[in-house]
Amino acid sequence: MSRSAHPAGPRHADVLTEGHYSAPAADLNALDEKVWSRTVTRDADGALTVGGIAVARLAEEFGTPAYFLDESDFRARCRAWADAFGPDADVFYAGKAFLSRAVVRWLKEEGLNLDVCSGGELATALDAGMPAERIAFHGNNKTVAEIERAVEAGVGRIVLDSFQEIVRVAHVARRHGVRQRVQIRVTVGVEAHTHEFIATAHEDQKFGIALADGQAAEAVRRALALDGLDLIGVHSHIGSQIFDMAGFEVSARRVVQLLAEIRDEHGVELPEIDLGGGLGIAYTSEDDPREPHEIAKALSDIVTRECEAAKLRTPRISVEPGRAIVGPTAFTLYEVGTIKPLEGLRTYVSVDGGMSDNIRTALYDAEYSVALVSRTSDAEPMLVRVVGKHCESGDIVVKDAFLPADLAPGDLIAVPATGAYCRSMASNYNHALRPPVVAVRDGEARVIVRRETEEDLLRLDVG
Ligand code: LLP
Repeated sequence: MSRSAHPAGPRHADVLTEGHYSAPAADLNALDEKVWSRTVTRDADGALTVGGIAVARLAEEFGTPAYFLDESDFRARCRAWADAFGPDADVFYAGKAFLSRAVVRWLKEEGLNLDVCSGGELATALDAGMPAERIAFHGNNKTVAEIERAVEAGVGRIVLDSFQEIVRVAHVARRHGVRQRVQIRVTVGVEAHTHEFIATAHEDQKFGIALADGQAAEAVRRALALDGLDLIGVHSHIGSQIFDMAGFEVSARRVVQLLAEIRDEHGVELPEIDLGGGLGIAYTSEDDPREPHEIAKALSDIVTRECEAAKLRTPRISVEPGRAIVGPTAFTLYEVGTIKPLEGLRTYVSVDGGMSDNIRTALYDAEYSVALVSRTSDAEPMLVRVVGKHCESGDIVVKDAFLPADLAPGDLIAVPATGAYCRSMASNYNHALRPPVVAVRDGEARVIVRRETEEDLLRLDVG
């Protein structure tokens, strides 16, 4: 997952087991700005603050576990992406990373568009006032009801994912008497260097239509022939949590080649290409993500170059970052409960959440950082595994990390970079109550997604 080092052997003298950890940071109290959101700092008492509010106050007011989202950081990242790509490109925030009404409003205010991939995400977007023409609708198996809803709402584009869907969308559009703007998602055959479950452009998987054996060209033929569809471009998304730009460059090149083939065969130059999302973020100090402006430059250079070579007009580019916008903007705050030192192994630190609020460690072997945040400490580093309160030994939040040896029950610890794919993938396993998301900005904190209650759980249980 993240590229954090997997050193050949243990570096902590007391620990004799295998482990995927780096040496402890020289100063466990230091907060690496790569993994913490922008307004996070420590106050004079050593407590972590975000947006000017100390975590003890946040814990008291909102409880733990809870996600705290740095709103000004979120907005700044939106602007950085929009500015990097400029007026001739479109940035679609991928709502699957984390979506709520407040987030939709921020996106709208900051000039971003929104990618949704389900009826639920579409409903949230529309409810919070995102103009339909700024919404892209995705998914490998959109239901007819979802397609109806999207067409009726007038979404700016539907990204077609299969031959059957080409027909389904055309049919619905005709019935509504409209020409629906669509893109075709192609599988460019790139092996993205990321976890198998989140790599999406190699051929043996469920997304898109393969370029390789002429299928994408055939999809274009069919889409152009149907009068319910207005084919505006081609889409490629190669995976997620990717650091290496090479995959994006190959993908861009192949997509432009397809545009040239379409021009040669049909005499039309499709005006847009979408290069998807997938840019990696720092989960630990060893990850080195690219800045939006570097990404924008690399992508637009390659598209411009390839288009010049193919004598094509440069299409309008769009991208769909999810994790890279929201991921770094939030941390999860937990209270330490049971601490169990296992002699010669490591110390298990149990928190009041776990795999129900962050499934990524269990699912993808994801690496995270963790810090003691209610105070500082000068105690020696101790190797810990931060675990949850669920009935599974795989219920791990942070697999290997160092915390001060004087850690005690009641301390607050925080896991940074949990803005993406944590609340959005949270579950009620063991009837856990999903934590709230609290937006913090300029000394004010407000709940944007409230904590689930036992009443919420029981309301669904109608047996
Ligand atoms: N566009 C499309 C078509 C996508 O499928 C995705 C993510 C994105 C954009 C946004 O990708 P991002 O910029 O956030 O990497 N649950 C996994 C990630 C699954 C990503 C699915 N698609 C995780 O927790 O790592």
